[in-house]
Amino acid sequence: MAVKNDMTADFLRSAFGGESMAHMRYLIWGDMAEKEGFPNIKRLFEAIAYAEWAHADNHFRELGERKGGADVTAGAVFGTGKTVDHLQGAIDGELHEVNQMYPVFLEVARFQNEKGAERAFHFALEAEKIHADLFKKAQDQAKLGKDMELGAVHVCPVCGYTVAGDAPDVCPVCGAKKERFKVF
Ligand code: FE2
Ligand code: FE2
Ligand code: FE2
Repeated sequence: MAVKNDMTADFLRSAFGGESMAHMRYLIWGDMAEKEGFPNIKRLFEAIAYAEWAHADNHFRELGERKGGADVTAGAVFGTGKTVDHLQGAIDGELHEVNQMYPVFLEVARFQNEKGAERAFHFALEAEKIHADLFKKAQDQAKLGKDMELGAVHVCPVCGYTVAGDAPDVCPVCGAKKERFKVF
């Protein structure tokens, strides 16, 4: 099965590009956070990088056998500085996805009756809300020159749902079981 409509296909490619870049960017910024003396913020970046991988994976697979490149790539953020700045870039990127990108992509997938893409966009949208919030908490501490307080972080490999603390018995977004969660 492949996505049938051009516009939803373009949005899947765009979202794949954005998620792939976010994955790499967070790993890079995580290493920089560790060097700055923030091991927990590094771990948060790593956990969320994994969630972005799950989103990219879903978008790529939903394209099925449909060929063709990406004409647009959503959500590019570049630049290195201090961890507070990186966290601001992360917050801005996540909020762009929450407030602009995924709600629009989701509505188009719904309008075009693309069930698989709708599911992939919905999963991402729900996770990005949490990511924005966690990055804000990290930044509040980094602004004080401190690492954040952070226990284990659990991430759902199916939808990217991210929780600071114990994994739920069942993922509230996609229904995956606790045992499948990846711990950071
Ligand atoms: Fe994502
Ligand atoms: Fe995210
Ligand atoms: Fe999930």
